[in-house]
Amino acid sequence: KHLAVFASGTGSNFDAIQQAIEEGALDSDITLVVSDVPTSAVIDKAKQKGLKTFVFNPQSYPNKRAFEIEIVEALQRADADYIILAGYMRLIGATLLHAYEGKIVNIHPSLLPSFKGLDAIGQAFDAGVKITGVTIHYVDEGMDTGRIIAQEAVKVEDTYGRDDLQRAIQAVEHRLYPTTIQTLLKQ
Ligand code: GRF
Repeated sequence: KHLAVFASGTGSNFDAIQQAIEEGALDSDITLVVSDVPTSAVIDKAKQKGLKTFVFNPQSYPNKRAFEIEIVEALQRADADYIILAGYMRLIGATLLHAYEGKIVNIHPSLLPSFKGLDAIGQAFDAGVKITGVTIHYVDEGMDTGRIIAQEAVKVEDTYGRDDLQRAIQAVEHRLYPTTIQTLLKQ
């Protein structure tokens, strides 16, 4: 099975997935990296690895449907089976949802349904919760609302600042995403 990774940011989850593939822990490959941010670090990393990329500027299209049609074409050319969202900061529209029904997965840095949307780590920190965590879920038309596949709790230690919490959550993400994808591919 071939993975397409969608990302707009630093790509640390992309790194973790790529590393798991290189180590043989994840029995797959990254057939395409998609980004709506041409300057994102993840695109540099993908190119360094010699991976195919599809980079687009949403503002050059009249609407979401128009760029998602092109994404679907690129996914089909790359023979992608699954879409792995790793910091793609946009809601997936009907065009992609229909083309890849049940094949789109996201990672979110909270225990959903708590702290949906942007800056979930900051939201949890500000709320003063003692436990937060990581959720991997299928994607539907809502924001962070699809069926949950895996979750892992992270304790918010009393000594933690916001950055400590972010580090703790990311460490869990980087372990949980590759292993969960591997389990999904085996089903
Ligand atoms: C991760 O925290 C993920 O949970 C969220 O976006 C962030 C992406 O970070 N959806 P990175 O680009 O993989 O470092």
